[in-house]
Amino acid sequence: MKTNKKTVFLLLAFSPAIVFGHGDETHEEKVKTTKSVVQKSVNTTQSALYEEINKSYLKNIKPIFEKKCFDCHADPENTPWYYTLPGIKQMMNYDMREAKEHMDMRKDFPFISHESPLNDLKSIQKIGMEGGMPPLRYILGHWDSRLTDAEKKEIISWSTRSIKLLKSEKKHK
Ligand code: HEC
Repeated sequence: MKTNKKTVFLLLAFSPAIVFGHGDETHEEKVKTTKSVVQKSVNTTQSALYEEINKSYLKNIKPIFEKKCFDCHADPENTPWYYTLPGIKQMMNYDMREAKEHMDMRKDFPFISHESPLNDLKSIQKIGMEGGMPPLRYILGHWDSRLTDAEKKEIISWSTRSIKLLKSEKKHK
């Protein structure tokens, strides 16, 4: 399962579509200039919404994510003592790379991700409701890394509110 995922990822990483998607600037510019005025105003509303969502992220969610998620999804403040143990370091480096590949939280919301901000919010909402992050092997090492009920509630409420905001904006298109 793990190896399959890794192989697929490697294949994707070398496919031109992904390389393109990773920020070929001239391509992006072309797309931008061909966008109509209408599209531009939609984009303005959308970035205003992202800003609004980010504001509540910074206030309510970032402090939780800093404690429980940044070790892998951003730059860790300090690695635990067992990081230096043989094998552990490799495993953790792999997790940190893989995690940021899926969702990089270093620049706040919208997160850097292959998914849309709406889909990212849905994954976060799911984690609040069903768990799944931090990965179990990480919780085993850090007992305090599990999300508390209060934190889960906060995450669910922020992601649900934000999803609603983005969806209501979509309907006006
Ligand atoms: C020990 C490292 C680690 C920590 C800590 C961690 N994650 Fe992750 N996260 C990963 C890895 C590795 C992946 C990619 C592979 C996977 O899904 O297991 C991932 C993937 C994700 C994804 C994408 C899932 C998807 O469906 O693609 C989300 C969303 C996410 N993490 C949110 C969080 C949140 C929120 C926290 C904090 C509560 C957190 N993670 C803490 C390692 C971590």
